[in-house]
Amino acid sequence: MIRRPIVEFAGLGVAVPDRVVTNAEFEKTLETSDQWIVERTGIRERRVAAPGQSVAMLARDASLRALEQAGIGPEAIDAIVLGTATPDRLLPSTACDLQALLGAKNAAAFDISAACPGFLYALTVAEGLIASGQGTNILIVGAEKLNSITDPLDRSTAILFGDAAGAAVIRPAKDATRGVLSTFIKSDGNLANLLYRPGGGAVDPISEKVVAERSHFIKMAGREVFKSAVLAMSDACDQALTRAGITADQVDLLVPHQANIRIIEATAKHAGMPLEKVMINVDRYGNTSSASIPLALDQAISEGRIKRGSILLLVAFGGGFTWASAVVRW
Ligand code: ACO
Repeated sequence: MIRRPIVEFAGLGVAVPDRVVTNAEFEKTLETSDQWIVERTGIRERRVAAPGQSVAMLARDASLRALEQAGIGPEAIDAIVLGTATPDRLLPSTACDLQALLGAKNAAAFDISAACPGFLYALTVAEGLIASGQGTNILIVGAEKLNSITDPLDRSTAILFGDAAGAAVIRPAKDATRGVLSTFIKSDGNLANLLYRPGGGAVDPISEKVVAERSHFIKMAGREVFKSAVLAMSDACDQALTRAGITADQVDLLVPHQANIRIIEATAKHAGMPLEKVMINVDRYGNTSSASIPLALDQAISEGRIKRGSILLLVAFGGGFTWASAVVRW
């Protein structure tokens, strides 16, 4: 039986920086090529934030669009739950900076550190906050400047990431016909060192040594991450479908985290979804981590691929490792 939703999406908004960086730009500084990047990742271009453009600013621009669509002002927000792997500062949270930028004076605000599935983790938390009576309008956000933590000299990571933000207003579902039919979150901290930022945190605070070793930049074992991503995202698809009480053939659109076209194709194959039912925009934005799901949702809506009543399967994977999924009737 299809599960009754607790919450629904009331508004969605996204923001990307103006600056487009094509693969050709990397050919000037790294031993790489447009052909290699397109074949191995599917990425053709990505957006990079302007100097001084913070994660909170990107989040604000996305949030204002989501609030407008939801028909509420910032003072109506009860909580801001912001997923990011690239907070503007380690203290305070970027969610608190966003709260100040929005003037959301009645909200509680906090960050979630769950890497790429941050938006789906935030959705899960919002569902719990609403179910426990903590509020009625929860602003969830995925916002990143991955380019601020990637090593421009490391060709295996420098080419992958883009900067962006996505936001949604989550509120109690009005009836059984629309809303979030299931959520699923999981992690495996034993695999942390396959995708991490060794230096610059409390264990190895920023120092001349950290900078000289370039350990404040992201390190990744690409092939291992790839394999784990496919396994975990496939499992997450199954879990969300089972919890929602639906089967893959009832899904209108798979909206996967946009990390790599080959991960997306393998996940779709496992889920039994033909590629025409899969949203793909990794070519335009690269891997925007926690912003990637809302960015893909927004584009699918504007292209008419998501309509009222469409059943969506959302799924993501990232550093931690963390993974998550959700089924939504739009
Ligand atoms: N240009 C040219 N050659 C490159 C580049 C590049 N940009 N990057 C790596 N190579 C080289 C490697 O040095 C290696 O050379 P070698 O054989 O001489 O040692 C060769 O290409 C193959 O390297 P692999 O890492 O095995 O290449 P692979 O086919 O696995 O592709 C990639 C690398 C694209 C990073 C892939 O492993 C991947 O996408 N992994 C998933 C990583 C990911 O998406 N991480 C994001 C965070 S997690 C997430 O969001 C899901």
